[in-house]
Amino acid sequence: MDEKISELKKIISTSDQIVAFTGAGFSAESGISTFRGAGGLWSKYDPDIYANINVFMQDSTYYWNFFKDERYPVIKKAKPNDGHYVLVELEKLGKLYRVVTQNIDGLHQEAGNSDVIELHGNTRKINCLSCGKNYTMDETYKKLQKEIPPKCSCGGNLKTGTVLFGEPLPQVALEMAKLAAQNCDLFLVLGSSLVVYPAASMPRIAKKNGANLVIINIDPTPMDEMADIVINDSASKVLSAIINGG
Ligand code: OAD
Repeated sequence: MDEKISELKKIISTSDQIVAFTGAGFSAESGISTFRGAGGLWSKYDPDIYANINVFMQDSTYYWNFFKDERYPVIKKAKPNDGHYVLVELEKLGKLYRVVTQNIDGLHQEAGNSDVIELHGNTRKINCLSCGKNYTMDETYKKLQKEIPPKCSCGGNLKTGTVLFGEPLPQVALEMAKLAAQNCDLFLVLGSSLVVYPAASMPRIAKKNGANLVIINIDPTPMDEMADIVINDSASKVLSAIINGG
């Protein structure tokens, strides 16, 4: 392990266009459950029901109950962890090119990273599907105490900014992420199972364009064979060891 960390330190020292590609595992140490892996949310909730746009459009009560019981309480109190702050440090050092995240919790921005591409949207941004009015998570949670699904003052239905299965990814974010993958010199996967596409196509794009590929994830991923270094450990622990000279 120490050898891999020294190798990664060397790669980081010679890189100045790093893309940090984060998944649910990166926010796990902020108290937010992952979807897959030990205790993952999708072992309790079927994503084809609770996170599917077709089901949502027919009957959004599943989604809103999931939001009320599982997402709001943890995301509301979650704070950035050490890993988030290492990425801010890398930005200050002029090494970080972009954060590309599948996370919808806004913790990279809260930590202080300025260039964050959100591939799967942001759950803190809630809109009326009829008139477009914005609501905060707190306002929506209050509404959920009274009625599910929650309604806008115009009577329209609300939706969080999270991309659900069956929905296209935000076009601009997807194009920017592809560009970032093409132009980086180090593509650093942090806490992602790399099974959900098109997000999971990014490591291959980076590798094809000559970047080093490093995967830090507790469980193995389908892209491990392609990677220059794989570290099966906590992403925040490994990043902290690198920055603190461990
Ligand atoms: P997953 O839940 O699929 O994978 C999280 C990965 O993080 C697992 O492989 C764990 O082994 C690993 N992990 C857990 N704790 C970790 C830690 N402290 N350090 C490092 N690794 C850790 O999450 P994503 O890959 O982000 O999309 O999932 C991709 C998408 O699937 C999500 O954005 C979401 C989900 O369904 C939608 O809902 C559209």
